[in-house]
Amino acid sequence: MENLIAKYNIPGPRYTSYPTVPFWNKEGIQKSVWIESVKQSFAESNAKEGISLYIHLPFCESLCTFCGCNKRITKNHGVESPYITAVLKEWDLYLALFDEKPIISELHFGGGTPTFFAPESLDFLLSGILDKGIIPEKHSYSFEGHPNNTKKGHLEVMAKHGFRRASYGVQDFDEKVQRSINRVQPYENVEVVTKLSRELGYNSTSFDLVYGLPFQTIGSIEGTIELVKKLMPERIAFYSYAHVPWMKGNGQRGFDDNDLPTPEGKRAMYEAGYRLLLEAGYKEVGMDHFALETDEMYISYNAKTLHRNFMGYTASKTQLMVGLGVSSISDSWYAFAQNVKTVEEYYEEIEKNEIPIFKGHLLTEEDLIIRKHILNIMCHFETDWNEEALQHKLVFEAEDRLQEMIQDGLLTIENCTLTVTEKGKPFVRNICMAFDEKLLGIKPGTQLFSMTI
Ligand SMILES: C[S@@+](CC[C@H](N)C(=O)[O-])C[C@H]1O[C@@H](n2cnc3c(N)ncnc32)[C@H](O)[C@@H]1O
Ligand code: SF4
Repeated sequence: MENLIAKYNIPGPRYTSYPTVPFWNKEGIQKSVWIESVKQSFAESNAKEGISLYIHLPFCESLCTFCGCNKRITKNHGVESPYITAVLKEWDLYLALFDEKPIISELHFGGGTPTFFAPESLDFLLSGILDKGIIPEKHSYSFEGHPNNTKKGHLEVMAKHGFRRASYGVQDFDEKVQRSINRVQPYENVEVVTKLSRELGYNSTSFDLVYGLPFQTIGSIEGTIELVKKLMPERIAFYSYAHVPWMKGNGQRGFDDNDLPTPEGKRAMYEAGYRLLLEAGYKEVGMDHFALETDEMYISYNAKTLHRNFMGYTASKTQLMVGLGVSSISDSWYAFAQNVKTVEEYYEEIEKNEIPIFKGHLLTEEDLIIRKHILNIMCHFETDWNEEALQHKLVFEAEDRLQEMIQDGLLTIENCTLTVTEKGKPFVRNICMAFDEKLLGIKPGTQLFSMTI
């Protein structure tokens, strides 16, 4: 395993979309084209499966110095009301494109820190969103909460609106690691919110853990997982720390590069964490994700209904995902579009009654085929090209590029069916990269993505 990790640990995309954002059309997408694709997708899919909504709530009270998310640090809670007003206005702009009420099958609050907002603000936002749609009996509503500021009031309000899944940023329980990333968060805080969520009817709690942070050691990973086992959240995301200091304004300062583990140390942390999570009873579900067998994510992984989009893995699929709020990405299946990245630009666009996208990509026939294979591999660890509609010259070229990984035992290809082996699961990104010929055009020395491990 160690040799394989050394060999395959290269910069690579996380494939929350294909094409990945750096390879979207340079010319972008015309707003009218985006709008038409949303209309078409809605008409095709709303009655059948509903839509997904992602809402980005960007504010945080303090900066964690490892964070790569789009956030705005402020202690001024006066920002809540104007932001919610703008998001509701953006929702109205989308509603105007729909010829019937949207069935909101999935809803996710991401951030930033959604629990920065007062429970009353979240209540107002949720009423404004959900009153204009239909909540189907089977729905999946979730939020990302900071364990230090998620209170009973937040959980109650969201539970009232149908939320049953909470995802908490834990990262690492070691105090030295926490101090170095400016995020001191004792175990007790995580314990309180986890237990409270369960008492209030949340049936799936998820923890984000990160390996490769400053001052982390195998010991701190072991200690963290020991504490995780006391709470046994239904899901775990075990992310590789994405050190992307070349991205401007992401706040990755506050510790020295020398305080980071070596690539070998980071790989050892990954292996230790991976083994400990499996020993604790978690099953690997797609890339970076683990779930208990009883959790919907594992059930849907087994049933081959797992899906992946900009929210990460989701237990069910909708063709249309609308992202509201600053920097959110929307996916109409035929096209992607991203909202402007600063709060000021966002307000400006909304003020003009403009859907606030600033870039996007209209998928070609070829993109749609490759996207399907990459999704299959990321979600089900297999794909096939028996049907003519799934065949393409790029697929056959990928087959050639995969020969070495086949030799290394990471996958098999038989009868036009690619299956990732147990050994190959940690390398699923590398396998997908063989299908992504756009990567071949990257100039040597340009780093667009973080390392795969
Ligand atoms: C929006 S935050 C979670 C909610 C809340 N803001 C919090 O911090 O608890 C989303 C998650 O992204 C992950 N994350 C952020 N920056 C990262 C980075 N540079 N590398 C890897 N994971 C990162 C963290 O695990 C974090 O919990
Ligand atoms: S990790 Fe969460 S709380 Fe910390 S800065 Fe990033 S989004 Fe904000």
